Amino acid sequence: MIIAIDGPAGAGKSTVACRVAKELGFIYLDTGAIYRALTLKALDKNISLKNTAGLVQMCRDTQFAISNNQDGSIKIVLDGKDVSGDIRSGRITQYVSELAKIKEVRREMLELQRRIGSTANSVVDGRDIGTVVFPEAEHKFYLDAEFSQRVTRRFKELRAAGSRVSRQEVEADVSNRDNIDSTRQTAPLRRAEDAVYIDTTNMTIEEVVDKVLKTIRNS
Ligand code: DC
Repeated sequence: MIIAIDGPAGAGKSTVACRVAKELGFIYLDTGAIYRALTLKALDKNISLKNTAGLVQMCRDTQFAISNNQDGSIKIVLDGKDVSGDIRSGRITQYVSELAKIKEVRREMLELQRRIGSTANSVVDGRDIGTVVFPEAEHKFYLDAEFSQRVTRRFKELRAAGSRVSRQEVEADVSNRDNIDSTRQTAPLRRAEDAVYIDTTNMTIEEVVDKVLKTIRNS
């Protein structure tokens, strides 16, 4: 079974997806982590994000090992190195949407995501899971929240992780990524017609997890 959770940055997808997976005994697949890992590799190897052929070759030369940690969070090993922490840096966040908008890169990553999802019952979060990666998913959710709330969440998350980023910087990043992710030509962020829409602006994580689980159990 596949449970697809899509939505913009800061809507609460990853926290909710991780908890729902844990609750159901499913694996949790954070597809954003894949694009983040590729961005890390491209920047490390000085492959320009404009060099599509070079990026495609890089994708083909990359080995991923994706699993869940004890607490359910994602562990991503890129070419033998655990990059789970490195992919969350501000630098990667700044560039990842540029890489993720490239059609050829997305095509290369489609098979990987489908392969992982086909190995076990999975909760998969991203931007195009219900629309492109798993259009036949048994359950689809689209999590959304007002812009200022999404910025506040990201800001608190980053500050809690020790970052000294300013609220203005977070605001600019979320706005920039919203814009690139939802206007790109290939697999843009949008709600699948059959996805359950949840506005999480005034909801706690527990309430959202509860709503998702109830929806799944009642269908
Ligand atoms: O969810 P996240 O912030 O880790 O995602 C990082 C970027 O990856 C996001 O800005 C858009 C891209 N992404 C995507 O294009 N498609 C997905 N299925 C998941 C993420």
